[in-house]
Amino acid sequence: MPLVLGIESSCDETAAAVVREGRDVLSNIVASQDDLHQEYGGVVPEIASRAHLERILPIVQRAVKKANISIHEIDCIAVGNRPGLIGSLLVGVAAAKALAWSLGKPLVAVDHILAHLWAPMLSGETSQYPALGVVVSGGHTSLLLLEDPTTATCLGKTIDDAAGEAFDKAASILDMGWPGGRLIDKAAQKGTATHRLPRPKLKNNNADFSFSGLKTALLYGVRGNPKKINGKTVFPKDASSLSAEEKNNWSASFQEAVVDTIIRGVKDAIKNNKINCIVAGGGVVANTRLRKHLLSVAEEHHIQLHIPELSYCVDNAAMIAGLGWHLFSTNQFANLELTASPRGIAS
Ligand code: KG4
Ligand code: ZN
Repeated sequence: MPLVLGIESSCDETAAAVVREGRDVLSNIVASQDDLHQEYGGVVPEIASRAHLERILPIVQRAVKKANISIHEIDCIAVGNRPGLIGSLLVGVAAAKALAWSLGKPLVAVDHILAHLWAPMLSGETSQYPALGVVVSGGHTSLLLLEDPTTATCLGKTIDDAAGEAFDKAASILDMGWPGGRLIDKAAQKGTATHRLPRPKLKNNNADFSFSGLKTALLYGVRGNPKKINGKTVFPKDASSLSAEEKNNWSASFQEAVVDTIIRGVKDAIKNNKINCIVAGGGVVANTRLRKHLLSVAEEHHIQLHIPELSYCVDNAAMIAGLGWHLFSTNQFANLELTASPRGIAS
């Protein structure tokens, strides 16, 4: 039963995992860099790549140790080489190539977005294709028509902010901390959606998403209409004037608008395509309300929903190793000239 070592470094998580036969996770080590980027309120690419460089091999060592195997027992090295921050991706790709060459093992190159859609399989689930892939993360909001785990057509994607990015900016407008998705989710559970925020719908290509208008509506709602004073944009108030209850209500209102927008896209995609199930993945799929509504849509259409456990929603290397096993077992190998790309299947 093949053992795959997965390596993930596309954004700000340095991760390595050992997975047996695509589904059985022997180890899954994730070193988050949240503390390094917190003061900037977002990922700083230069800081991210340097941190990956420091951490990548110790994280691989930990993953192999935790799996209780010798590194020579690994059958294949899988690396996420697209899409993502180029400097970050290059660190993982260089490490994976060096390991593959020195150990004499095959190498496979994994699309990070498709790997998010493998995450539900890490709990033993099996998807029936064609499937509707729903990827909602910090960098992507995409609907994909999946013919098999690595063959996909993009049906629609965000034209500006990704949903996770919008959650993070909303948390920053509400002065709640970073990364903000989880914090908004928690606050929303205590609040009521008392504010009516827009559900952006695009005119020409209705399968695409846009979240920047929603974010601006929240900004003006919380801080008031800005004035230009001496060429500077000045807001009459900020989040410090809000009570905890008001922040909870804004969080609930914003979350409801994001989830409604995604769910409307999912319903349209189900109507317009022949699919057997929904496969969801990405950090925002950890969101309580989104999970609940995805399940309702699936039930309404009498199809199955494959959704990852919370720990496999955010970036991790087990999903890379899992999809890597599929590439390995279908002989889709990479060679030592492999490089990284900021773009992938849905970008
Ligand atoms: O998939 P991921 O780890 O990174 C990318 O591939 O982009 O997703 C990270 C994103 C962040 O924007 C974070 O705020 C968001 O997922 N997130 C959530 C929740 N947990 C994480 N957003 C909403 N609700 C959550 N519970
Ligand atoms: Zn991701």
